[in-house]
Amino acid sequence: MKKIIIAIDGFSSCGKSTMAKALARNIGYLYFDSGAMYRAVALYCMQNGLINDKKIDIETLRNRMKDIHITFEADPETKNSLTYLNGVNVEHEIRSLEVSQIVSQVAALDFVRSEMIDQQRAMGEQKGIVMDGRDIGTTVFPNAEMKVFVTASAEVRAQRRYDELIARGDDAKFQDILDNVLQRDHIDQTREVSPLKQADDAILLDNSDMTREEQMERLMEIFKNLTA
Ligand code: CDP
Repeated sequence: MKKIIIAIDGFSSCGKSTMAKALARNIGYLYFDSGAMYRAVALYCMQNGLINDKKIDIETLRNRMKDIHITFEADPETKNSLTYLNGVNVEHEIRSLEVSQIVSQVAALDFVRSEMIDQQRAMGEQKGIVMDGRDIGTTVFPNAEMKVFVTASAEVRAQRRYDELIARGDDAKFQDILDNVLQRDHIDQTREVSPLKQADDAILLDNSDMTREEQMERLMEIFKNLTA
């Protein structure tokens, strides 16, 4: 069966990663989380004093880009993909609310995006991948054979992210999360470089009222139609 590229884009916290991971596992493809790369750059800024008063020291970050190396490795037990920043496993830290609060500013910088996009394209050379993000079907892989654009209501998305943070033991307030979801949507949709928007040839999936099983059935149907 021919191998294709699958691009899953959409709004924050609508379950893209879980969905993309499960799909990749089902069909034996590799999964790449492009958001984790932007989160790792944001974490680098936090760890290296490049954030003051919620503002990024853009010029220092520009000079440091060559020192930021992001890689993925499979967890030996769960087989889930883990994110490494300069050789250190940062999978847990990059999911914090603190990182979520600055990541969209970092991801709006053109020099950050061009570096990440080069790395993402290199990951897709082999085909047989599922990548999720905001601009995968529009900018990174405009020729991806399968494109899905996922959305759900802001409240449903904030509730999902809240449950996730509480489950991992973080102290979170629903309102803070909802504010963060709305703010990231706004930055992602209005930025100049590669804004979040549905590609003309992407299939829209609103999963507000869908179970994970229903969602997977729909994805498998789309996948089978394209690769049959
Ligand atoms: O998991 P969630 O959908 O909340 O976010 P994520 O996929 O981890 O991405 C974190 C942030 O990185 C997003 O809010 C975007 O600002 C940015 N991002 C982007 O600009 N382009 C991508 N391809 C992926 C993420």
